[in-house]
Amino acid sequence: MFDPKEIRKDFPILDRQVYGKPLVYLDNAATSQKPRQVIEALTDYYQRYNSNVHRGVHALSVEATDRYEEARQKVADFIHAPAAESIIFTRNTTEAINLVAYSWALKNLHPDDEIVLTEMEHHSNLVPWQMVAQQTGARLCFIPVGEHGALDISSLDTIINRRTRLVSIVSVSNFLGTINPVETIRDRARQVGALFMVDGAQSVPHMPTDVVEMDCDFLAFSGHKMLAPTGIGVLYVKPSVLETLEPFLRGGEMIREVWLDHATWNDIPARFEAGTPDIADAIALGAAVDYLQTLGMENVRKHEIESTAYALERLREIEEMDILGPTDAESRGGLVAFTLGDVHPHDVGTLLDSDGIAIRAGHHCVMPMHRKLELAASSRASFYVYNTREDIDALASGLKKALDYFARSNRTGA
Ligand SMILES: Cc1ncc(COP(=O)(O)O)c(C=O)c1O
Repeated sequence: MFDPKEIRKDFPILDRQVYGKPLVYLDNAATSQKPRQVIEALTDYYQRYNSNVHRGVHALSVEATDRYEEARQKVADFIHAPAAESIIFTRNTTEAINLVAYSWALKNLHPDDEIVLTEMEHHSNLVPWQMVAQQTGARLCFIPVGEHGALDISSLDTIINRRTRLVSIVSVSNFLGTINPVETIRDRARQVGALFMVDGAQSVPHMPTDVVEMDCDFLAFSGHKMLAPTGIGVLYVKPSVLETLEPFLRGGEMIREVWLDHATWNDIPARFEAGTPDIADAIALGAAVDYLQTLGMENVRKHEIESTAYALERLREIEEMDILGPTDAESRGGLVAFTLGDVHPHDVGTLLDSDGIAIRAGHHCVMPMHRKLELAASSRASFYVYNTREDIDALASGLKKALDYFARSNRTGA
């Protein structure tokens, strides 16, 4: 039985008070909270078998290596990757995308090649490609965003064409909430022989993921948005593409043999994990994956559709509310961005915070899309496995209170 009220009991932070009020945490798209099981996996590593991996002959190192590699296998199983070698541990989604930019794109792209993105990309899946374009002479092309935050794919066959070498798109927008038509875009990328990358930062934590079905060449995501600690992320690479990547960072662990003037590379995936990796956090990511597997990703998604549908219903009661993105919960991830009349999103966030309600205000690292909508900023509430209807009720009342407060201060000129 999936019961957010029971699930909450595993998250110590959700018991805390903020300014004397119970915490209502609705900033999950930025980072999720961590269950006791994940925190214990971290302390267990440091208290019982803290040691470096892949190097030692002693018991602690063997144990740490086993647990680190076990975590890799758990992540592979979680996204149905055909082999654990396809899982490269990075710091986060940003580093995973940069790895592809440096290790594949800089080496393989030439003037007049094209990289296709969407207009709704997080800066993580935009700024690295700007660098690649500047350094190689390749061009950036964009699938436009149309009505209600949906991609306008009417010109897809023109945008993705014989010059396209890479298509890299976000599967679920962290701003509009839109679930993008990944398969349609992938099919077009395949027709022209382009590589296909997915920024899964907002989809992998929230819905079942199958990289074989998705048939992507690269999938990037962050542990900290899926109950794991900060500092650990993942790049999945399709086995047939792995060998085409140059090493990203260079140094220890990623080499096989070193001479004074050159070196040869270790097996994959160690080749892409230079230096001492983030051992504790990778092992704790394994614990987070166990936790999500026990909940069942179908149930996680179902709960999020219910939460989003309820949030849309409650927020629509507010006349001044302008909800951004798709109109129905099924077409969205578990987040809702909005503007509230003339009240600045930062003021909305600050007033909610005074009631213990944590949301996000700003551009959410999606400045170009805000610019297209002629917005400087927006507010965003985002949900996860432990959020209840009561959390959403608190949000709705907090927003009404914020509107009253600003209406009063406008009248009094305060
Ligand atoms: C869609 C999307 N892509 C990329 C990122 C970057 O993730 P990280 O900061 O963990 O690298 C985020 C984070 O908010 C995101 O939502």
